[in-house]
Amino acid sequence: MNSGEVKKIRDRFLKELEGSKSPSERKKICKRYIEEELSSVFCCLKDLSGENKAKVGKAANELRQMINEKMKESKESEETKEEWLDVTLPGKQPSFGGVHPLAKLQERCEEIFAKMGFISVEGPEMENEWYNFDALNFTPDHPVRDMQDTLFIKQKDREKLEAKDKLLMRTHTSPVQVRYMEKNEPPLRIIVLGRVFRNETTDSSHDINFHQLEGLMVGESISVANFRSVISFFFKELFEDSVEVRLRPSFFPFTEPSFEVDVSCTICNKKGCSVCQKTGWLEVVGAGMVHPNVLKSAGVDTERFNGFAFGVGLDRIAMVAQEIDSIRLFYSGDLRFLKQF
Ligand code: PHE
Repeated sequence: MNSGEVKKIRDRFLKELEGSKSPSERKKICKRYIEEELSSVFCCLKDLSGENKAKVGKAANELRQMINEKMKESKESEETKEEWLDVTLPGKQPSFGGVHPLAKLQERCEEIFAKMGFISVEGPEMENEWYNFDALNFTPDHPVRDMQDTLFIKQKDREKLEAKDKLLMRTHTSPVQVRYMEKNEPPLRIIVLGRVFRNETTDSSHDINFHQLEGLMVGESISVANFRSVISFFFKELFEDSVEVRLRPSFFPFTEPSFEVDVSCTICNKKGCSVCQKTGWLEVVGAGMVHPNVLKSAGVDTERFNGFAFGVGLDRIAMVAQEIDSIRLFYSGDLRFLKQF
């Protein structure tokens, strides 16, 4: 072995390197030369002597340094290739949010009632027993309180508290009637859009929370005919269709007389289908003439004023209008559902 042979290895190495096509191929060549060719040169060194040993050693060291440098260069260009960015590729689509189907329906309700001069007001979701029950003519131990299974707030020594301090999640939006009448003089026309809570066993049409539209109109000589015309106008606008409305007698402690309002089924046009349970009608509203005791609780002069009130279940209407088969979808937060609106 002499330095001339080392030079030959160097020439072969450079030639191979020149012929290579990619940084990773160049990296492989460098590796092979260090592991095979160079290491055999270093192995021979111990058998060489004197001047020749020094020359071969020097040449081999220089070659090793050169191969290492080439290897480093190939590695670097390989990495930059991996990080290479194609600016012509189309970007990632941002995903846009939508308006929840219930929020959309609420907006529509506000628009329709605004046409009839109703303003939209709010009340607290966590109520007290007085506004939710007592002020609405529910007597303290009357079983009618069980009509609306209530979610009570845990409180220390609850039994000893006054009705106004006993907290619960409101079971309906009717307490806002009283809250509003306490602070505002009739004549008045309001709607309340809000979430209500019940201690229910859930299924496809019941959930522990849902949404109501409450309406209240108080003035001088208000009649059932006024109510009928307001609610008919609302449904005709909402369904942009020739829906029919019918009133049936019912009972609520806070209205007298009370009604259930049915709307002709928009799916089957009164022929009978699974949505209306073959009746041709959808039960969506509880209503009536405001009970004088309720007006009195709110400090309204019952000699002069009377009125009507109604409560609409919005989830059911949204379900019928959008053909949604489970109420739970509204509250699931599932994007696959929400993205459809
Ligand atoms: N608050 C009643 C309910 O939730 C509905 C209703 C409102 C009935 C107003 C009459 C008048 O069932």
